[in-house]
Amino acid sequence: MGIVSAEKFVQAARDNGYAVGGFNTNNLEWTQAILRAAEAKKAPVLIQTSMGAAKYMGGYKLCKQLIETLVEAMGITVPVAIHLDHGHYEDALECIEVGYTSIMFDGSHLPVEENIAKAKEVVEKAHAKGISVEAEVGTIGGEEDGIVGKGELAPIEDAKAMVATGIDFLAAGIGNIHGPYPANWEGLDLDHLKKLTEAVPGFPIVLHGGSGIPDDQIKEAIRLGVAKVNVNTECQIAFANATRQFVRDYDANEADYDAKKLFDPRKFLKPGFDAITVAVEERIDVFGSEGKA
Ligand code: 13P
Repeated sequence: MGIVSAEKFVQAARDNGYAVGGFNTNNLEWTQAILRAAEAKKAPVLIQTSMGAAKYMGGYKLCKQLIETLVEAMGITVPVAIHLDHGHYEDALECIEVGYTSIMFDGSHLPVEENIAKAKEVVEKAHAKGISVEAEVGTIGGEEDGIVGKGELAPIEDAKAMVATGIDFLAAGIGNIHGPYPANWEGLDLDHLKKLTEAVPGFPIVLHGGSGIPDDQIKEAIRLGVAKVNVNTECQIAFANATRQFVRDYDANEADYDAKKLFDPRKFLKPGFDAITVAVEERIDVFGSEGKA
C-alpha cells in the first residue's frame, strides 16, 4: 500500500473501535524504527513531523522524501501517511505544496473564529490534492513549572463548528497534555470526551499527549471515539533510556567495546533505535491497530 492520505484508515479505526498511532519522528533512524514496527504489526500508521523536528531534519521536502524513500527501500506494505503535526497556517500550506499526505493545521492559539476560517481554507487546498486534514480546538498544553494538574477541555460548540469545516479528524482537549504528565495530573476527562463524541457522532477524535496515559484510560478513550493517538515523548524516553544504559555498559567495558568498534554510530545508537521499535509495537498493541493494514 505504501504512502497514502490518512482519512480512510483513521475513519476505519473510528468505525471499528480501535486507534492508529501518529508517531513523531526526529531523524532517519527514528523513521526506520517506526516503519519497522508498523510493518511488523501490520498496522496503518502516521509518521509525523512537528515544525521544529522538520526544521531540525532539513525541512519539509527532505522529511517527505525521506519517509517516501524509506517506505520504498524497506518494502513497507502497510499504509503510511506523511503527516504535519501542529502546523501553523503557512507551514500547512508549505506541506500541501511539498507533498505531505496529511496535515494538522493548529490554529488553537488564534481566536476561535479565525481558527475555523483558516481551517476551512486549509481543508479546501488540502482536499483538492487528496490530503487529509486534522485541526484542533481548545489548546492541548504541556506542563509548565510542574503546576498543570489538568489539561484544557475543548468547548463542544467549537468542536462542532470545526468539524463542519470539512476536516477529517479533530484534536480536542480532554484533560490531556503534551510531554510527561505531572504527578498531580487528574487523568483524562472521559465524561467530556463522551459529550464531544455525542456532539459529533462517528467523527474521529485525536488524542494528543499519548505518552504516559495509563493504558486503561487510553482504551476507554478509544472505545468512546478516539481513532488516532499521538506519541512522541514515549519514544524519546525509550531512546534515551536505552542509549544511557548502553553508555553505562560502554564505560564499564571500555576496552572490549572499543575492540568491537562499538563507537561506530551505527552500533552506538542501535540500542536506542531498537527501543523505539519496541515502544511503537507496544503502543500499536494497546491501540488495537495490529493487523488492520
Ligand atoms: P507526547 O509527546 O506527550 O506523546 O505528545 C505527542 C503529541 O501529541 C504530538 O502532537
